[in-house]
Amino acid sequence: MRRGSIVRITIYGVIAGTLASLAAVLIPWLPTSASEEMDRIEFTFWFTTVICIGVFAVVAAAIVYMVLNFRVQPEDDTDGPPIHGHTGLEIVWTAIPAVLVTAISIVSAIVLAKNDDAGPNPIRIAVTAQQFAWKFEYPGEPKVTSGQLVLPVGEAVKLTLRSLDVIHAFWVPEFGQKSDAVPGIETTLVITPTRKGEFSIVCTELCGIGHATMRGPVRVVERAEYDKFLASAGQGGGGTGGGEEDGESVFATAGCGSCHTFGPAGTDAEVGPSLDGVDPGGQSLEDFLREAIVDPNADVAEGYRPGVMPETYESSLSDDQLDALVQYLAENQQGG
Ligand code: CUA
Repeated sequence: MRRGSIVRITIYGVIAGTLASLAAVLIPWLPTSASEEMDRIEFTFWFTTVICIGVFAVVAAAIVYMVLNFRVQPEDDTDGPPIHGHTGLEIVWTAIPAVLVTAISIVSAIVLAKNDDAGPNPIRIAVTAQQFAWKFEYPGEPKVTSGQLVLPVGEAVKLTLRSLDVIHAFWVPEFGQKSDAVPGIETTLVITPTRKGEFSIVCTELCGIGHATMRGPVRVVERAEYDKFLASAGQGGGGTGGGEEDGESVFATAGCGSCHTFGPAGTDAEVGPSLDGVDPGGQSLEDFLREAIVDPNADVAEGYRPGVMPETYESSLSDDQLDALVQYLAENQQGG
């Protein structure tokens, strides 16, 4: 090959590589990392991307060069010269990709193994998914349950995920990793937060009509603030540790607001009927509300379909919680 050709191919390759690099760097493909696991995923992403840009530059340069130099001339109907392949080239273009793909798989395997390893003594939080809310049970005596996920910065956390009904999936984009919550089995997810802030839990498995509303907050805070949260949640403020149940926090923890509008709780979802101005028909308001929670398909409000509201609240809520919730809803009726 002439020297002029090599220079031109190199120029095409540099241009193609530059364009691909700009697309990789200028577009924010990934959310800003907030965990060690996400940092490793980012490393794998960029490791693979750099290899891809290199391969793309070589292939694009070869294509552009051939299109410009070996294009068939108008009027040229002759056959091309008989070429029988090139063993040397074939070995090169098989061996190099094989090495690159092996390198990517080794890096990925190491990252996967590290991202599954929570270390010897992680904070263990049990996550329960249910149409359409997340519930978190924190370690300690007594156990603290809350609809809020609060994590101390810099400490490894191991989530154990369970589902009470269908398959859900737990994902916080800034933490990188995802895990399904599957009925009947326990799955796990490791998070080691690296910066403080507020993020969003997103359910990423289509789990029913309220799927899009199945989101929850997660706060990453200093250890001292985490301890304070546990102490206050344990005293009834969102917890189940301290005797008296509080209907407002049961409403929040059970995820009622994901589907129902209820003015006093500040929710405005429209998956299910509004809980403002409930008309109990001939029944007492308390009986009507209780039945609607434990046996939602017995009497479905006009304009709504049966089978949407989960039938699991009778078992997932304690009697005290159910009483508190019914009382909270009944006492806060307005209008109607
Ligand atoms: Cu739960 Cu989608």
